[in-house]
Amino acid sequence: MIRRALTFLGLAAGVGGLVAGIWAVVSLTTDRPVTYEPIEEHFKYGSIGSEPGGRLLSPIGGALPPYWVFTALPSICSDKLPNGYATFGFITEKGRDLPIGVSRRRRLGIDHVGLNCAVCHTGTIRDTPTAAPRLVLGMPAHRLDLQAFVQFVLECSLDNRLTPDAIKGRLPKTGGPSLFERVLLDFGLIERLKDTTLNLRNRIAPVLAESVPRWGRGRVDTFNPYKSVQFNWDLRKLPPSELVGASDYPSIWNQKPREGMHLHWDGDNDSVDERNLSAALGAGVTPVTVDHDNLKRVRDWIWSLPAPVYPYPIDRELASRGAPLYGQLCANCHADHRFRDGVVSGARVGQVEAIDTIGTDPYRLDSYTPAFASNQYGLYPDSRYRFSHFRKTNGYANHPLDGIWLRAPYLHNGSVPTMRDLLEPPESRPTAFYRGYDVYDQVRLGFVATVAEADGQVFTRYDTSVPGNANTGHVYGTTLSDDDKRAIVEYLKTF
Ligand code: HEC
Ligand code: HEC
Repeated sequence: MIRRALTFLGLAAGVGGLVAGIWAVVSLTTDRPVTYEPIEEHFKYGSIGSEPGGRLLSPIGGALPPYWVFTALPSICSDKLPNGYATFGFITEKGRDLPIGVSRRRRLGIDHVGLNCAVCHTGTIRDTPTAAPRLVLGMPAHRLDLQAFVQFVLECSLDNRLTPDAIKGRLPKTGGPSLFERVLLDFGLIERLKDTTLNLRNRIAPVLAESVPRWGRGRVDTFNPYKSVQFNWDLRKLPPSELVGASDYPSIWNQKPREGMHLHWDGDNDSVDERNLSAALGAGVTPVTVDHDNLKRVRDWIWSLPAPVYPYPIDRELASRGAPLYGQLCANCHADHRFRDGVVSGARVGQVEAIDTIGTDPYRLDSYTPAFASNQYGLYPDSRYRFSHFRKTNGYANHPLDGIWLRAPYLHNGSVPTMRDLLEPPESRPTAFYRGYDVYDQVRLGFVATVAEADGQVFTRYDTSVPGNANTGHVYGTTLSDDDKRAIVEYLKTF
C-alpha cells in the first residue's frame, strides 16, 4: 500500500516536473505581441517586431530596456524627466500604460517594449494655445526629440539609482511581472542591461557627441546610427561631416500613387515596400526580429490613408488665383492638389533634382554614401525581402505635396518654418526659430515658430547657421509679388 502510494507520488512529481518543464520551455520560447484589432490602434501601439529578440542591440528602438524597467525609468530619474516621456514630445493617451509609438511584446519570457511607425509618423495640432491637441496619424512627429529620449534612456539605464530594488518598489500591486521576470530581476537582468547599454552608448557616442549638432525636435539622423549598430562601422573613422545628417520626419499617408517614385528625401529608393521595411529597421527591427505580418497591416493601411483635409476656412477666390501660378512654377516637380486623389501631373514628380540646381543643405545627401548603399544590400541577404532598390543619388527628390499644410517646417532639414517663409528669398527667411509647438498658424501655413516654451515643454531653438541646418536654395516663386505669394499659399491649403 505504502509502496504504491510512493510510486504514485513519484509519478505525480515526475509528471509535475515534466509539465513545469514544458511550461517553462513554452513560455520562454513564446513570441507574443500585444495585439490590436482596429488598425489605428495597431498603428499607434502595435508591434512591428522592434522589441529585442535574437540579440539585444539595434539602432534606436531595439535598445530599449524591458517593459518593467522602461515604465519605471521616468520615476527613478525624475530629476532628468519631470513630466515623464511627454517631456520629449511623446504623445500619451488616457488609460494607456505606454506612449503612442511604443509597443509591447513578450519574447524569451520577458515583456519588452519597442518603437513602431507611429512614434515618428504621428503628431498633434491645436487651433489656439488653450485648445486641446488633435491627434493626426501619419503626419510627421514634429514635436518628438528622439535624440534627447535616447540619451535619457542610456543615462538612466546606467544610473546607480537603477537597481532591482528600485524596480521592485515601483511595480503595480496587480498585473506585475511574471515569476520568471521576478527571478531574472534578482539574478542579473539589470547587470546585463547595463552591459548592453554601455556597449551601445560607446558605439553611438560619436553621433551623440557635442561636436555633432543636435537633431532637435522633429528630426532624426536616418543613417548614421545604422552605420554603427547594424553594420558595425567605427564611426570615429568617418569624416566628421558625414556624422551630420539630421532630417525631418515626413508624412506617410497616400502611399499608393507614390509607388515607382524616387523618394526618401534624397530619392534613394523607388519602392514603397522597401521604404517601409528600411523604416522598420530605423525603428529597431532586425532581420531576426521583424514581424512581417504586422508590418504588412501598416503597409496596407498607409497605402490608401487619405491626407488630412485643411480644416480652417479657405479664401476660394484667392486660391483660384494661386492655382495657375502654381501650375506654372511648381506643378512640374510637385504635382497639384489632385495628387491626394492619385492624379500625378508633372513630368518631374518623384525624380531627383541635382544638388547644384536645388541648392538646399547638402549634409543629409552626403550622409548616405555609396559604401552605405552597398552594405544595405547585405541585409536580409537570402530572403525575398532583400533590398534591391537603393541607390546613391546626387540631389533631393521632388515630393508630391498632399497634406503639405501639416508637414511644416519645410525642406528635408526643417529649416524653413512656414510656407510663406519658403516663398521668400533665402536671405530673407528666418535665421532662428523654435520647433515643437503644435499651435497652427493659418496665415503663414505652418506651426507657430516664435514661442520658446509652453505647457512644460522647452522647444528646439533652430539656428540656420549650424552645419546641416542651412535654409538656402529652393528659390522657386521667391521673386513674385506679395499678392501672388499669398495666392499660392492659399491654393496650397487645398492640397
Ligand atoms: C525613428 C523614426 C522613424 C520610424 C520609427 C519610422 N520612420 Fe519612416 N521615416 C523616418 C524618416 C526620418 C524618414 C525620412 C528618411 C530620409 O529620407 O532621410 C522616413 C521615411 C519614410 C517613408 C518615405 C516617405 C517619403 O515620402 O519619402 C516611408 C514610406 C516611411 N518612412 C514609412 C514608415 C513605416 C511604415 C514605419 C514603420 C515600419 C516607419 N516609417 C518608421 C523616420 C521614421
Ligand atoms: C525643379 C523642381 C522644383 C520646383 C519647380 C519647385 N520645387 Fe519645391 N521642392 C523641390 C525639391 C527637390 C524639394 C526638396 C528640397 C529639400 O528638401 O532639400 C522641394 C521642396 C519643397 C517643399 C518642402 C516639402 C517638405 O515636405 O518639406 C515645398 C513646400 C515646396 N517644395 C513647394 C514648392 C512650391 C510652392 C513651388 C513653386 C513656387 C516649388 N516647390 C517649386 C523641387 C522643386
